[in-house]
Amino acid sequence: MSNFNQESVLSVHHWTDTLFSFTTTRDPSFRFRNGEFTMIGLKVGEKPLIRAYSVASANYEDRLEFFSIKVPDGPLTSRLQHLKRGDEIIVSRKATGTLVIDNLEDGRNLYLIGTGTGLAPFLSVIKDPETYERFEKVVLLHGCRRVKELAYGEMITEKLPNDELIGDYVRNQLIYYPTVTRDPFRNRGRITDLITSGKLFSDIGLPSLDAAHDRVMICGSPALVTDTRALLNGRGFVEGNHGEPAQFVVEKAFAER
Ligand code: A2P
Repeated sequence: MSNFNQESVLSVHHWTDTLFSFTTTRDPSFRFRNGEFTMIGLKVGEKPLIRAYSVASANYEDRLEFFSIKVPDGPLTSRLQHLKRGDEIIVSRKATGTLVIDNLEDGRNLYLIGTGTGLAPFLSVIKDPETYERFEKVVLLHGCRRVKELAYGEMITEKLPNDELIGDYVRNQLIYYPTVTRDPFRNRGRITDLITSGKLFSDIGLPSLDAAHDRVMICGSPALVTDTRALLNGRGFVEGNHGEPAQFVVEKAFAER
């Protein structure tokens, strides 16, 4: 178990009957870049039962936060969803992932496209002062089926603008655009459709996506990733990776969740 730290659960929040998040202690030796994921889980017998989770807290915070779905018969989430304060979980000593701003070329505006729990890595990215130093506007798109699944909305609109460290950046540069597909709401439709139709850009008052100026990060279901990648490729965007910064990046680990 030497590749893992043992952490203690500090709080659990159930958003819906299928979504929850929790915070844990953080070993001071655990380092990560905002946007990365790590392996977390439980010891079941002597074996660790683990899977990849994006860290939803920022790398300067002393707690770790994770955002998860609940799968009734999922080997890990069927257990994790019963976590309570004081329970132990194991967290890998290492973090990795593609959704870091270093994997993007310089640009004007940054678009963060997340569906469902694919929001998690971006919660960390939008708390990073460097994100705002590198980009003029940061557009956070969160797509869900239902309004009640738009987790963290209040934190983004009420708490972050008043944050001591990043409040000024958030007020001046962050545009939060939640959208749902299966409930009435002020923003409706799939993110891909909102981009293609141009509705997103008229709503937020920015020019349509342009590979010369805009940078994009994507985290969501395999179908979302495939369609968004095709859309961006069609507009001349090149996909970046570790050591090869380009115009957009995709989190592949999400597909295995
Ligand atoms: P829809 O309700 O039209 O399927 P999911 O929970 O299935 O991951 O979906 C989360 C959100 O992402 C939903 O609003 C869903 O819309 C949307 N979505 C699912 N697949 C795609 C896709 N291929 N392209 C764009 N949006 C998608």
